[in-house]
Amino acid sequence: MPQFKTVRGMRDFLPEEAKIMKYIEDKARRVAELYGYQEIITPVVESYELLAAKAGEEIRSRMFAFRDLGDRMVALRPEFTASVARLVATTLRNEPKPLRLFSVGSVYRYDEPQRGRYREFWQSNYELMGSDKPEADAEIIMLTNSLMNAVGLRNCTFKIGHVGVLRGIMAEENLEEKTQNTAMQLMDKKLYDDALKLVKDAGAQEKCVTTLEKLVELKGADVFETVERMKECVKNYKKAEAAVENLYEILKLISESKSKIDIAVDAGFARGLEYYTGMIFEVTMPEIDTALGGGGRYDRLIELFGGEPTPAVGVAHGIDRIMLAMQTQKVPLEKREENKVVIIPAKEEFIGKAMDISRMLRDASIPTEVEVMGRKITKALEDADRRQIKYAIIVGEKELKEEAVVLRDLTKREQKTVKIRKIIEEIA
Ligand code: HAM
Repeated sequence: MPQFKTVRGMRDFLPEEAKIMKYIEDKARRVAELYGYQEIITPVVESYELLAAKAGEEIRSRMFAFRDLGDRMVALRPEFTASVARLVATTLRNEPKPLRLFSVGSVYRYDEPQRGRYREFWQSNYELMGSDKPEADAEIIMLTNSLMNAVGLRNCTFKIGHVGVLRGIMAEENLEEKTQNTAMQLMDKKLYDDALKLVKDAGAQEKCVTTLEKLVELKGADVFETVERMKECVKNYKKAEAAVENLYEILKLISESKSKIDIAVDAGFARGLEYYTGMIFEVTMPEIDTALGGGGRYDRLIELFGGEPTPAVGVAHGIDRIMLAMQTQKVPLEKREENKVVIIPAKEEFIGKAMDISRMLRDASIPTEVEVMGRKITKALEDADRRQIKYAIIVGEKELKEEAVVLRDLTKREQKTVKIRKIIEEIA
């Protein structure tokens, strides 16, 4: 047999990393509760057509797609949004709005593996369905900021733009949707010259090209001033003007909420996913050059999937990248004070009693391990010490005669004899 390793782009998480991943997942779930998002679980495998519909060329070409044994064209989900939109277009179509839905789990993209870029990665995903109001967009940004704060990350910055501005201008020039999509894809990759050339070649007027040219240069951390400059820039393009106004309202609400969020407006900002129709954003951190999360408004996807016209806005956070960011900033995990216990029988004949005490402790929600290697007390204690377990219970002959055991506090290095029926009280 060969020596097996993980498939390229796939990783094992050993206990230390698995712990951080779960920690972030817990925080994400807590944020979902705080904002009123209910958790749903959708399948990892979905129909290719659903996932590909509006994923955009970049993600579409990187899907793990295959025919199943029933000859269905399926794929591993590259994100959650299509699945949630499918649900809202079908099973949940009659649910009262707004619907706030949260999901967490693994997603798959055949990306080129590198630091912070994997082929299997984890997202926490939030979708707010049914509202076209700027307060919904503002909520998604505030929620993202809450998660970054909850995991203890510092100096996060948000980049915000609006698809409706760039598309609004292109639409007024009657550029086909396909051309618009390609131009947006190029802008997402910061290939602005190629995007502008494409627009020009598609027959757009000079004024359109120069307006787009000006927009892609327009960015700034003074958000209201930048929005003013955008307004100037798109004058007389009705749809684009409305989009800038919408961006202004979102930013105003975030400002009025008094959330401390570091935001910069970027008028030329585009994202790879094709379903976006409004505000889009990403959150980054200086030490990591890729996004920790991203999202935006997509008002037509549910309708495209056969549902009622339903405006929606959402975000997904990269849990793997948040872990990387925490490790880079050396953010400590909040310690949960845990009174872990190991039970060591002094002789083999006391193992049954050790099992009995372990059951009793676990019934009282005290995490408990039993020495299963048959090691001598000193060796077992050394091992417990190394793993920073708080208590050892030694089941010995002399104490058992009195229905007692030795309880050793491994941090204080003290021990005493305790009646078995009092042991829970003693530890708790
Ligand atoms: P996305 O920007 O494609 O958006 O992905 C969200 C986050 O997933 C990224 O910001 C990044 O942290 C993480 N991520 C993406 N690719 C990788 C990778 N190869 N390895 C590790 N992490 C990665 C979406 O997925 C949209 N569904 C977000 C959304 C929800 N928009 C509306 N609703």
